[in-house]
Amino acid sequence: MFELMERQRACRRFTDADVSDEVVERVLRAATRAPSAENAQPWVFVVVRSASTRAALGEIMRQAWEGGARRFSEGRLAPALLADVDQGATGSLAEAPVHVVVGADLDRCLPQTVGSSIFPAVQNLLLAATDLGLGSVLTTLAATQADEVRRLTGLAPTIDVVALIPLGWPARALGPSSRRPLSEVAFRETADHPW
Ligand SMILES: Cc1cc2nc3c(=O)[nH]c(=O)nc-3n(C[C@H](O)[C@H](O)[C@H](O)COP(=O)(O)O)c2cc1C
Repeated sequence: MFELMERQRACRRFTDADVSDEVVERVLRAATRAPSAENAQPWVFVVVRSASTRAALGEIMRQAWEGGARRFSEGRLAPALLADVDQGATGSLAEAPVHVVVGADLDRCLPQTVGSSIFPAVQNLLLAATDLGLGSVLTTLAATQADEVRRLTGLAPTIDVVALIPLGWPARALGPSSRRPLSEVAFRETADHPW
């Protein structure tokens, strides 16, 4: 598990090889083992394989990116990350053979726990996918166009669209992740004593 967490990465380029239902089910099962407030388990997963729906979801991402998100991200993201996100949002994410749309059932969770009850499941999903050799990336770009995503996936208005996770076999190796050292983010007793 520790080794797995070291190499879990955002993958934005996929081969066109399919992902079986059996593999998808293992990943979803892992997601549903996550904790949630009051054990409400408000998550909803729509697995999209249809080429036309994936293309439409890809178009939503592209429009959100080109309609303002790219401008917002320029100067904020490191150049290599910006280029990767750009390539993903303008085409390569849509090429993943499976898109998992993650929703939160607002009838099953308090509004203030939507994120905290859904993202543990998303993290489980990402780790399980990595363990099986799949590439995956947590994206929220499409969630900015929730009505459109709901229309494409048949989700009810009471389902908040939280994330879209493209899944597929990675087209290239990603290497280890780069993260701030513990000495910058962890402290002993009080926040003026770095780890
Ligand atoms: C809340 C959240 C939203 C994200 N949204 C997007 C997104 O819309 N598009 C995208 O390509 N990546 C998205 N990412 C992925 C991040 O860019 C990625 O996790 C981060 O750069 C670390 O990447 P690494 O694990 O490969 O180092 C998102 C990640 C999080 C946690």
